[in-house]
Parts: sequence; structure tokens; C-alpha cells
Amino acid sequence: MIPDGSVDLIVTDPPYLMNYRSNRRVATEKFRHIANDKDATALISQYLAECQRIMKADTAIYVFCSWHHIDFFKAEFEKHFKLKNLIVWSKNVHGTGDLRGAYGPKHELVLYGHKGRSLLRGKRCPDVIDCAKVPSSKLTHPTEKPTELLRLFIRNSSDPGAVVFDGFGGTGSLCEAALVEGRNFIVFEIDREYVETANKRLDSLQLLQN
Ligand SMILES: C[S@@+](CC[C@H](N)C(=O)[O-])C[C@H]1O[C@@H](n2cnc3c(N)ncnc32)[C@H](O)[C@@H]1O
Repeated sequence: MIPDGSVDLIVTDPPYLMNYRSNRRVATEKFRHIANDKDATALISQYLAECQRIMKADTAIYVFCSWHHIDFFKAEFEKHFKLKNLIVWSKNVHGTGDLRGAYGPKHELVLYGHKGRSLLRGKRCPDVIDCAKVPSSKLTHPTEKPTELLRLFIRNSSDPGAVVFDGFGGTGSLCEAALVEGRNFIVFEIDREYVETANKRLDSLQLLQN
């Protein structure tokens, strides 16, 4: 329902198609499984096509993903966008996984590209970005992204007043980042509880700003 060519920037965090469940949380069940985090390749393919449709000419898109399905995400991304960087988000701490058989996972990936050509604002950044994770005690979503990182992408690739889009909003990290940076947002989320958490988060943020 979003009109063609109406969005200034996409910073999106789709399900990584990993059936994600943190080892640390299985016992406590703090979080549910993420919707569409398994066998949803058709959804991601359709989604990226829709992203291309709703973006204005000469705008940018950032798509979070992990190395596990990078082949799929990169191939789908390149059907619609000019890939400019595979950004590495380097976290302050590493995760768990195969404790004795694999290196500790400490990064996630972000496909960055253009519809047409988009120029970066401000000082040029390297393609490896250090940014701390949201501490476990403060997480409201199992794969919540730090607003500092989202704010950096928003500042680098849009102007104040721009409309930023994410079809997979979780508990509203992108909404908060957009508001703080003086941008507008359109964000979808399928899980009602996450939407409620996001709305509360935005209510308290607006109280702080008033
Ligand atoms: C990787 S998480 C996003 C986390 C978010 N960036 C944050 O910081 O809270 C992906 C989200 O997409 C949602 N989702 C899955 N399928 C969806 C769909 N078809 N439409 C909207 N949201 C969907 C999941 O419920 C999940 O919250």
C-alpha cells in the first residue's frame, strides 16, 4: 500500500533465516522464536522487490544479515540494488555457538547499496564499524539493534525530515533512531507484543523530548 518512489531511506533488519534462539535463553524462555526466521526465502525475495519499488530514485538501503545466509541475501539484494559495501558491524563482545569447535561470533553484516546513486553525508566512515550490542539485561527483543548504529546509517544516508522505512521493526529501535535524528519513519512489525513494546518506548521517548 506504500506508493511507488515515496521513501527516502531503508534501514531494515529482516529475520536472518536462522531459526534464532539464544543458547542463554532457552531455559528461561525470555523471548519467543522470531516469526518467519526459517524457510522464509520467498518472503525476503518479495520484500526486497517491494523495497526497491517504494524507494525514491537515488536513495540508499541497508539490510542487516549474518554470514550464514549471506549468499542468498547478497544475490537477492543485487537483483534490485547496486551493492556498494558489505559493512561489518563489529560488536564489543562475542556470542556463544560451538564453544570448542568455532571462533566466538563477534560480528554481523549489513548489505549497503543504492537505487540509482546516493551520496554519503558527513565524514566518510570505514566499512568496519565498532558498536556495542544492547546489553542482555536491557534487551526488549532477542535481536535488538543498537540505536547508535542505526542513527549513524540514518545520518549518513538521509537528510532531516526524511522518511525512513523498515518492514521488520521489532521493538522499535529504528523508530527511536529516526525520531532522535529528526526523521520520520514507516515501520511494520507482525508480532503484537513487540508492537506494544515499541509504542511504549516511543511514548517515553516523546515525553523525554517534550
Ligand atoms: C531481526 S528482527 C528485528 C529486530 C529489530 N531491529 C529491533 O531492533 O528490535 C525481525 C522482526 O521481523 C518480524 N517479522 C517477521 N515476519 C514479519 C512480517 N511478515 N511482517 C512484519 N514483521 C515481521 C519479527 O517478529 C521480528 O520482530
